Amino acid sequence: MDITLNSVAAHDLHRRMSDHRSSFECGSNRSVTGDTICYSGEGPISYDGDTQSLTNSVYEFPKENGRSYHGYRAGAYRFPNDLNEIDRLDSQFEILRILFQGHNYFAPLANPQKILDIGTGTGQWAIEMGDEFPDAEVQGTDLSPIQPPLVPENVHFFIDDASDDDWVVPPAHFDYIHTRLLLGAFTDFSEIIRKAFFHLKPGGWMEGQEAMTTPYCDDGTMPPDWPFFEWTSYCDKAAMEAGRPLRIANRMKKWYEQAGFVDVQEKIFKLPLNPWANDPEERSLGKMSEENWLAGLNAFSMAPFTRDLEWTKEEIEVP
Ligand SMILES: C[S@@+](CC[C@H](N)C(=O)[O-])C[C@H]1O[C@@H](n2cnc3c(N)ncnc32)[C@H](O)[C@@H]1O
Repeated sequence: MDITLNSVAAHDLHRRMSDHRSSFECGSNRSVTGDTICYSGEGPISYDGDTQSLTNSVYEFPKENGRSYHGYRAGAYRFPNDLNEIDRLDSQFEILRILFQGHNYFAPLANPQKILDIGTGTGQWAIEMGDEFPDAEVQGTDLSPIQPPLVPENVHFFIDDASDDDWVVPPAHFDYIHTRLLLGAFTDFSEIIRKAFFHLKPGGWMEGQEAMTTPYCDDGTMPPDWPFFEWTSYCDKAAMEAGRPLRIANRMKKWYEQAGFVDVQEKIFKLPLNPWANDPEERSLGKMSEENWLAGLNAFSMAPFTRDLEWTKEEIEVP
């Protein structure tokens, strides 16, 4: 399993920003009426748009085949948001911390003031960034309110759909925008990158980490009919049926460049899938990774296989 990481400088934004600023002023109604809820541990603290129905839909999680899913813009994201998935996301965060040798980011950040984490999930990354940069304001957005109530006071979570045409923030607003593991979330991830470029300050940075879902094998011993390999092919097929591709990691560098970013760098990390490595550290990481995959099998399969491949729950769960 490869993790691709794109860290990008946006040194050449000045001229483009003046164009963007004028188009924002023309379309500034969006910032007043947009469907965004900001909340803290005490519940929603401010919101725009159709407040009551929006607030309800955010907290009503539709159930399907034993899993629960986000209520806001229901159906858009096909992986669950229940406690099992929350635990899996938190352990995935620990796995990546080890894989990245403790780094939460690789961009050369210098005193960032405004940080955005798109699709923040359980918000662990945003919370740690809030601790590391106490002078910064860190925003995490997601479709699901699954972030913990107690967070540093400079961290705020928003319910917001990143695929909306306009984001409810001005252009040239953020110093740093981060995405992690949003494979399968969007019909067009390049659009998210393009919008991020628009909302970054001149000289700002964007960085994203994505997993390639194709398993690779160092010594050529992986048989083509290995069930895990076969399963990832079905995941891929379902994602393509839904028009929300999983295999985006290998295309991100190009999308960053097309959006106008300069100094685009890509780092590729190998994440062991299981504990078969000889090296003790890789073996331990492989064990954590295997447990995470096993915890994710149901989560990754249930909605995509039933909705897009028309499998039954029983067919998915057959031992
Ligand atoms: C696999 S999780 C990754 C979470 C987090 N970035 C991490 O690394 O732990 C993907 C997250 O993206 C969120 N998401 C999916 N589609 C989204 C959208 N259109 N706008 C905002 N968040 C979205 C999901 O609700 C989910 O919490």
